[in-house]
Amino acid sequence: MTEATTAEHVRFGEASLDEVLAALTLDEKALLLEGVDSWYTHAVPRLGIPALFLTDGPHGVRTVRDDGGAFDLGDSRPSTAFPTSATLAHSWDRTLARRMGAALGRECRDLGVQVLLAPGVNIMRNPLCGRNFEYFSEDPLVTGVFGTEFVRGVQGEGVATSVKHFAANSNEDYRFVGDSVVDERALREIYLRAFERIVRDARPATVMCAYNRLNGTFCSDHRELLTGILRDEWGFDGVVMTDWGALHDRIAAIEAGCELEMPGGIPHNRHEIVSAVAHGRLAPEVLDEAVRRMLRLIERATAGRPIGGQGEDASGHDPRPHDAGPHDPAAHAALAREIATGSAVLLGNDGTLPLDAGAAGLVVIGELFERMRFQGAGSSLILPPEVVSPKDAFDRRGIAYAYARGYRTLTTDRDASLERAALAAAEPAIRADAPVLFFGGLDDFEESEGFDRSSMRLGVPQTALLRTLLDAGARVVLVLFAGAPVELPFADELAAVLDLALPGMHGGEATAALLFGEANPSGKLTETWTRTADDASSAADFDRDVVAQYAESIYVGYRFHDLAGTDLRYPFGHGLSYTSFEYRDLEVRVERGRVVASAVIANTGGRDGAEVVQLYVRAARGEVFRADKELRAFAKVRVAAGAAERVELSFDLADLAYWDVAEHDWVLEDGEAEVLLAASAADIRLTAPLAVTGGRASRSPYPAEVDAEYATPPRGIPSSFPALLGRPVPVHRRTRRLGMETRLGDAKRSAIGAVMLAFALGKVRRDYRAALAMPESRERDARLKSAHFVVRMLPSMSLRSIAMSSPADLPHPLARGLADLAAWHPIRGLRRILGRPARAVPPVVE
Ligand code: BGC
Repeated sequence: MTEATTAEHVRFGEASLDEVLAALTLDEKALLLEGVDSWYTHAVPRLGIPALFLTDGPHGVRTVRDDGGAFDLGDSRPSTAFPTSATLAHSWDRTLARRMGAALGRECRDLGVQVLLAPGVNIMRNPLCGRNFEYFSEDPLVTGVFGTEFVRGVQGEGVATSVKHFAANSNEDYRFVGDSVVDERALREIYLRAFERIVRDARPATVMCAYNRLNGTFCSDHRELLTGILRDEWGFDGVVMTDWGALHDRIAAIEAGCELEMPGGIPHNRHEIVSAVAHGRLAPEVLDEAVRRMLRLIERATAGRPIGGQGEDASGHDPRPHDAGPHDPAAHAALAREIATGSAVLLGNDGTLPLDAGAAGLVVIGELFERMRFQGAGSSLILPPEVVSPKDAFDRRGIAYAYARGYRTLTTDRDASLERAALAAAEPAIRADAPVLFFGGLDDFEESEGFDRSSMRLGVPQTALLRTLLDAGARVVLVLFAGAPVELPFADELAAVLDLALPGMHGGEATAALLFGEANPSGKLTETWTRTADDASSAADFDRDVVAQYAESIYVGYRFHDLAGTDLRYPFGHGLSYTSFEYRDLEVRVERGRVVASAVIANTGGRDGAEVVQLYVRAARGEVFRADKELRAFAKVRVAAGAAERVELSFDLADLAYWDVAEHDWVLEDGEAEVLLAASAADIRLTAPLAVTGGRASRSPYPAEVDAEYATPPRGIPSSFPALLGRPVPVHRRTRRLGMETRLGDAKRSAIGAVMLAFALGKVRRDYRAALAMPESRERDARLKSAHFVVRMLPSMSLRSIAMSSPADLPHPLARGLADLAAWHPIRGLRRILGRPARAVPPVVE
């Protein structure tokens, strides 16, 4: 290790960054580029450099410290559980994202957090991704706008954000080793576009790179992504950190532009830095630049001033000094409730809703009524100060109802006696033709970070009971709690469907307010609800292999279904109200490169309400394949009953450009486009022509076979996909051998892999059985969920990802030694495991 430099005169915050940098030893520099543990970076006390406290994110401030299992929040400090991102986006109200971000920023300040690991802005490529609840939309504009406002909100309070997971992290089952193979245009137009908007407009202090590979290179090592695009093109001036355990090669990562390794604590990586500098494999200036960025982050995140905007000093944020006093928990709870109310989507209604709060004979069925699922599972899980379930909210209102639990969550087994009791409870309502409220949705076994869903179905205990009730003639109102679309084959038999998604800790209040008409639903979907997962735009590829072929290219979500004519359950942008809206008088003009559209929205019903107005543009038909229409602007407009409001929406003409793979740039095509004002992607109300000029004549950069096969959305993987990519699709040879990058689930077919997986899972299974034997309680649920989470996630992990994320459980030399043993290098493997000098051992060839 290197000698410490004595520099008494240098103190962080007083000296310049160059002086601080010059005073740091090589060891200290290496330490600054990694975490101490999951949640802190290293301090350098002799120079006054403080540690940073980083934590999840994105829907509350998670301060859990003990590692008691994924669902054990025992030692965390309570913080407001806001609706999840997918729910928030259903509001289509960007001001809510800003306010939620600001509230989270204030709670971060109170809890001493400097970096909030949020927002998650990956595109919902497929409804089965277990983590969709943590993302905003299948559409890059919605995602980009919500991400931007969220970052501005948090950073306006002087707290840094980490926009994640960069990039093309679209599934959970293969996230640790998967290779997202995406053509350049889809990457730019769909998967990078939200990141681009957020980086350019909100200037996040950090970006978190994804676990997966992108076009063959791990994101942590991806120089083109992290430097070429993120910094050189978009002007990102912050720090890139790894997702937890996403580091692949420490030196390649630094050279690529990935500074901070999290959670850190892996001596191997630190030694790599020191030795690479000593042996000329890493230029000192490159290391210094990485450290300088880290120092700048520490400075920004501890200064107590707004971050981002037009420059920190002349910030684009609200210039008023922010209130540095403690946050007001009641105000934040009220905000959580407001967001939940404004985000709920009324998917269907035959007029049964709203209910009459005073009516007799109301029957309520379903465990989620009393044990509402209000947040998603995984790293975003937080401990709220209180939870208001629908039952609590009904009781507070003095609503009279008969309740039957009906089913149990966290099991696939039906419970005959609960079902009988539910049917008996429903009978009077069935005879009286009164509504039966059925509370259903997904549980944490079915939907979570760490693994994907295997279908969009609701659990058997719920669907079986629903079927029984419907067959018995019940008029069922379905109230849903789920972070992603579910199959509703019986939708046409339901009286109404109200989707609360994952509404945060006061979701019960929102539910009651909407059901009883105190509030009028105004949310709309930001993802398409197909009938089954087989209809999804990426169904041909999703979760099939380590190599994910994004062969649908730009045809993601409604961009696919519009042209494919998919028979959908609910289209993108769909949502009903207790009132009705009429659209009229569309006017479109172009002013200095900006398209401005305005129209009158009239509330033609009897209740005040809010309408989400969507502006799509149908591009001129040219030589280059395009989606039928793309969202270019949106607004939520509140209109009193009987009144009318003029709404104005605008966007840059340049937004209509497509990414041209020959130019490697955005290209605007001249021609006759069309502006569509719509209530959903399938409900276009007004249209107007739009002449696009100032671009160039349309010409395709693709070979003819691509033009032909991609003129409409491809079903399956088209033979021209390699031509679209511009190179062959990589072939992944499935190996049974336990290598550093093999999924343990695949390696279990080799002896050592099987032993390792069995060993790891054995303990968890014992924990699970022990939890099963406990009486019903929160603790039992938490233990069951934690064990289930590990059992489901472990097979998708690799030796590398475990060693990088949990060095205490699997030290790096042990991981490498195991890989050597599996590759029939027993001596080398044992030497590594027994801790012989690493230098004598050549690297494992993966
Ligand atoms: C998740 C990140 C999260 C991190 C820290 C990872 O597994 O993918 O989103 O911020 O853990 O909890």
